[in-house]
Amino acid sequence: MEVFLYHTPELTPPDSLPDCAVVIDVLRATSTIATALENGAEAVQAFGSLSDLMAHSEAWPESLRLRAGERGGAKVEGYDLGNSPLDCDPQLMAGKRLFLSTTNGTRALQRVEAAPQVATAALINRRAVTEFLALTQPKTVWLLGSGWEGGYSLEDTVCAGAVAELLAESCSYQIGNDEVIAARALFRQWQGDLLELLKQASHGRRLLGLNGDADIEYCATLDILNLVPIQKSPGVLIKK
Ligand code: MLT
Repeated sequence: MEVFLYHTPELTPPDSLPDCAVVIDVLRATSTIATALENGAEAVQAFGSLSDLMAHSEAWPESLRLRAGERGGAKVEGYDLGNSPLDCDPQLMAGKRLFLSTTNGTRALQRVEAAPQVATAALINRRAVTEFLALTQPKTVWLLGSGWEGGYSLEDTVCAGAVAELLAESCSYQIGNDEVIAARALFRQWQGDLLELLKQASHGRRLLGLNGDADIEYCATLDILNLVPIQKSPGVLIKK
């Protein structure tokens, strides 16, 4: 297994895909996806654009769908939900399909949706994703950060480092690029205070300005969910 890290979809090698892509958007899309599936959502269907989300979700029975839209950290008007994982409670999620479009995370998913295997990772399900990789041993793995509008995101890098660090404890793998080494060093430096790191990150500060303190605290918690969101068809993620 050879593991690469790309900080944003824009930094991935063009015309290329890995055997397994692991999309990361700690704040907050992949934390929300894991939480929705853990709490009983039938699937999460991700869309880069809000208009595609609207068009596709229209065909789904109203009683079995929830529309979640986020732009700039805020809920999109007219949608059932924004992108807070804490809104994904079991009563609301049970049996529903969550149609989700976010600023960056769902765009990153779109970049790799044609890969043979696609999973999502966040700090909250880091161990489960790492065990999945160790067990399935894909030949090439991309850890793909979602970033922010094409730029770097600290919290996605620390999560990639957390995966890479734990993976090294359970199997040997080849390091595909220097970004993996840097991410592991970042995680080692901050593993005792991930909450503070998320609060210092630019999107963490943006969310603090939007009263997102509780979301940040939840998203900074390591290994609390034991599931791997896996793509079953392009853009559609289910619980593994
Ligand atoms: C994103 O896709 O950029 C996000 O998950 C932003 C957010 O809702 O915090």
